[in-house]
Amino acid sequence: MKITKICCIGAGYVGGPTMAVIAQKCPHIQVTVVDLNEQRIKLWNDPDVNNIPIYEPGLSEVVAEARGRNLFFSTDVDKAIDEAEMIFISVNTPTKTYGSGKGLAADLKYIELCARQIARVSKTNKIVVEKSTLPVRTAEAIKSILHNTGNGVKFQILSNPEFLAEGTAVEDLFHPDRVLIGGETNAEGEQAIQALVEVYANWVPKDKILTTNVWSSELSKLVANAFLAQRVSSINAISELCEKTGANVNEVAKAIGMDSRIGPKFLKASVGFGGSCFQKDILNLVYIAKSYGLHEVADYWEQVIIMNDHQKNRFAKNIVTTLYNTVADKQITFLGWAFKKDTNDTRESAAIYVADNLLFEQANIVVFDPKVSYAQILSDLTYLGSRTEAENKEHITVASDPYEACKGAHAIALLTEWDEFKTYDWERIYAQMNKPAFVFDGRNLLDKALLTRIGFKYQAIGS
Ligand code: NAD
Ligand code: UGA
Repeated sequence: MKITKICCIGAGYVGGPTMAVIAQKCPHIQVTVVDLNEQRIKLWNDPDVNNIPIYEPGLSEVVAEARGRNLFFSTDVDKAIDEAEMIFISVNTPTKTYGSGKGLAADLKYIELCARQIARVSKTNKIVVEKSTLPVRTAEAIKSILHNTGNGVKFQILSNPEFLAEGTAVEDLFHPDRVLIGGETNAEGEQAIQALVEVYANWVPKDKILTTNVWSSELSKLVANAFLAQRVSSINAISELCEKTGANVNEVAKAIGMDSRIGPKFLKASVGFGGSCFQKDILNLVYIAKSYGLHEVADYWEQVIIMNDHQKNRFAKNIVTTLYNTVADKQITFLGWAFKKDTNDTRESAAIYVADNLLFEQANIVVFDPKVSYAQILSDLTYLGSRTEAENKEHITVASDPYEACKGAHAIALLTEWDEFKTYDWERIYAQMNKPAFVFDGRNLLDKALLTRIGFKYQAIGS
């Protein structure tokens, strides 16, 4: 079966970039991305392509080429479902905040709504593709909803998890390490798998397209994120030991990473991992293990989260201790708020938790991030529920210029590894700060020798 029309439900960080790249690479396929969020769709359709709602290097160019040709953004979900032969579900699957599984399980209400809408609207056979990250065996639930509507339409369900990382989404989509497609192990399942293989084969070498059964595919996504996050927590655990022993975590990471069995990537010690997925997906894995009575398995993976929380908290505590045990009414300047560089996404960013800790100590925080707005910062903090928005507003402000942000500060905390931070005039920043002028580098980004020479009291992670 040759696919000519694709619909994607969810125009977020995954649906938007993924579909833009499919459309660019497959001009013969019409791709329509739909969302209930009218503002988001409006921005995807903004005549100035620089105003699209997601900041990703290279994405505006891809959208500019395909939009209006074979890439469309719309709020008419029913129409797009009706017309498509293949429907990707790419909606959010956050951690549940209520009921059973609260704080651990994935909330599948948006997925179920999509399945019910597809069932209601479809008049022709469809291939439904799980693009969202889902608990293993979700395809069973989707199948049950789709097959019980009694309208005679046949559905095939595929799992096609997305492995892109934010900040490098376009590059990751252009050159994926692998594309994973899981489907039913019968003739119809095989046919559906092949239809999706043919879409990716327009730009991905066939030997990088891996096909499995549905459950392996669903589970592999959670496991990939758990393994990646585990590396960060492992090196962060060692960073604390380095600080006590005189070892240097950068040197240790290099030394172990040169063992080809360990590898050099994802061993950067930091203030802690953030992002919308690592924590949510590990908690989901923990919940699944618990639900099968596998308590040791659950405890093993939960430790990755416990270590990450510890890393964020100890970074904040160290600032307070070093500033003579009080930061009350002192100005702490944050360089960076996003959870990593080259993205405007702040979900679960370590900066939020460090700020929360320092606000409890009555610090005044000034933030400079090249891509994050004041409204977003306030909403991140207010979401935590530690204090009212008015109280947050009183103690946290933003500056539109990094030098303004650092003026009068007692300390700078570097939370995101934006490249531009390395290029600042640090002599100028030093001259305008309170002395002693402290820098807490949560990303081991800056040049320690240079900053120390200028006069800063510089502290990094793990040395
Ligand atoms: P997101 O919140 O940015 O986007 C989801 C979008 O779905 C939102 O715009 C929302 O309005 C829309 N939506 C929800 N329910 C809808 C419905 N019934 N009809 C139409 N639209 C609806 O989320 P995201 O970051 O793109 O993540 C989506 C999924 O992909 C999650 O399961 C996530 O775990 C997974 N994932 C994310 C990343 C990443 O880097 N962000 C990477 C790989 C996988
Ligand atoms: C991660 C995975 O890398 C993607 O493969 C996956 O598709 C995605 O989650 C997802 O499922 O959402 P992402 O969260 O966008 O991607 O970004 P990462 O590059 O993985 O970084 C996550 C966090 O770990 C960031 O806060 C980053 O600063 C931190 N990190 C990463 C470190 O502290 N040290 C490292 O060595 C690497």
